[in-house]
Amino acid sequence: MMVVCSSHYVPRGVDPGQHVDTTQHKARLRQYFDGIGFERWSAIYGEARLSPIRRSIRDGHSAMLALAERWLDADGVGRDGAALDAGCGTGLFSLALAGRGMQVTAVDIAPQMVAATRTAASNAGLAERIQGVVSDLEDLQGRYDLVSCFDVLIHYPPGPFERMLHHLATLSSATLLFTYAPSSPLLSAMHRIGAYFPHSQRRTDIQMIPEPLVRATLHDCAMTIRRSQRISSGFYHVTLVQATRH
Ligand SMILES: C[S@@+](CC[C@H](N)C(=O)[O-])C[C@H]1O[C@@H](n2cnc3c(N)ncnc32)[C@H](O)[C@@H]1O
Repeated sequence: MMVVCSSHYVPRGVDPGQHVDTTQHKARLRQYFDGIGFERWSAIYGEARLSPIRRSIRDGHSAMLALAERWLDADGVGRDGAALDAGCGTGLFSLALAGRGMQVTAVDIAPQMVAATRTAASNAGLAERIQGVVSDLEDLQGRYDLVSCFDVLIHYPPGPFERMLHHLATLSSATLLFTYAPSSPLLSAMHRIGAYFPHSQRRTDIQMIPEPLVRATLHDCAMTIRRSQRISSGFYHVTLVQATRH
């Protein structure tokens, strides 16, 4: 079977002639995560007092990061080599990887997030192990022993999701860790309720992805799912995936 792994990848289910333009969507996300989203998410990822809803998101996110590290430990990987943390946010996992001994490229589309990661790296004495870069993850090139991408793809609908996951797979020589928002009737109902709120009061829209699409996209890139686990805590619902090369 031919492995399709180029940067000109056309997502399945999308007309090959149709250009999937995510430029505007990314510009909106960049603006959000560089403004009000930065305030909201740096509070969630920090130590500030939170409402019960946001607290449940912090707890779920912490549990997800801890599980990702346990998986690395179980395989005896993630202790050296080069890592890419794509959509690093305030740098929580970049710091964890650097603390484990990896040389980390921490990339985010929002400049404020990268600045926060650089400050956190410096405060933790890990500045030499973490290089902060402002970039769209789809503009990145190179090969990394480990690529992580947590709670980023949850903001992209199926076509762009598939293209971005494909791109992340091309950047990984061995291990790819990522989360996506799984499709489920309960989550669909929560999203329908959320849709009744005025847009100004909503956080970002979460995009649910069917599991077969994840599996098939990885397969196209000669990767398979080694571990996958649903993490649910109040308003935090993701599936954490560890994919490895065949
Ligand atoms: C919910 S935060 C997650 C942060 C971090 N991965 C974590 O789990 O702690 C999502 C992050 O993805 C970033 N992001 C969204 N789209 C991106 C893209 N195309 N390229 C790089 N970063 C992106 C946002 O700016 C934001 O910082």
